[in-house]
Amino acid sequence: MAQEPRPLVAGNWKMNGLAASVAELQAVVARASSQPPGADLLICPPATLIARFAEAAKGSIVAIGAQDCHTEPSGAFTGDLSAEMLKDAGATAVIVGHSERRSLHGETDDTVRAKAEAANRAGLTAIVCVGETREEREAGATIARIQRQLGGSLPEKLDGIVVAYEPVWAIGSGLTPTASDIREVHGMIRKYLTTQDESAGSKVRILYGGSVKPQNAKELMAVANVNGALVGGASLKATDFLGIAAAYS
Ligand code: PGA
Repeated sequence: MAQEPRPLVAGNWKMNGLAASVAELQAVVARASSQPPGADLLICPPATLIARFAEAAKGSIVAIGAQDCHTEPSGAFTGDLSAEMLKDAGATAVIVGHSERRSLHGETDDTVRAKAEAANRAGLTAIVCVGETREEREAGATIARIQRQLGGSLPEKLDGIVVAYEPVWAIGSGLTPTASDIREVHGMIRKYLTTQDESAGSKVRILYGGSVKPQNAKELMAVANVNGALVGGASLKATDFLGIAAAYS
């Protein structure tokens, strides 16, 4: 059996945070430095805060990431940000294909794959999100849906990427799948990845996301092939975010 990859606990701040929020980040950095968890930590603030956060987290175990990127390195794309720009601002990772991007911005698997390739090109860790809707789960179509998303959204090279399984119905709802449902999906994702590339696929971190809280983190993180969490709401408070990371202490 391959060694389990080192876990990653990542926070997605979504469209939340102003300059004053650096205090929250500083609290994460201070606590994580005095009591380092057994997981890598990543915070993905809005793009306006990446440079400021990267400066505040410099030299610490907390990395800073972005929530989305454009597919092209530069050009006439008003309002967009390239992976190269995010890296230049201090990001080391970027989330691509979050379900809010897929549903609110019409991103297809093809777009997500192109963004993941852009992240690889720029030297950023791509965190590729997949997940079924409530209707798909109720119709028994979860596994087929996730397999299709993996087939369409993953970049050609799997080295260094992260996959996040986030059931759409679990995001921000307080609901989570059962441990056995998560085990089934994560096991399938691992199999898919190692079938593509035995060596790189066994090292890919597969995060669970959707209503992860300090109260349920230990149970969720104990599931086979769950190598960390992608946390939305609970990542906005240092104590909650660190409470989740403490599942790995
Ligand atoms: P949540 O969001 O933790 O607030 O459910 C997760 C996400 O959207 O990544």
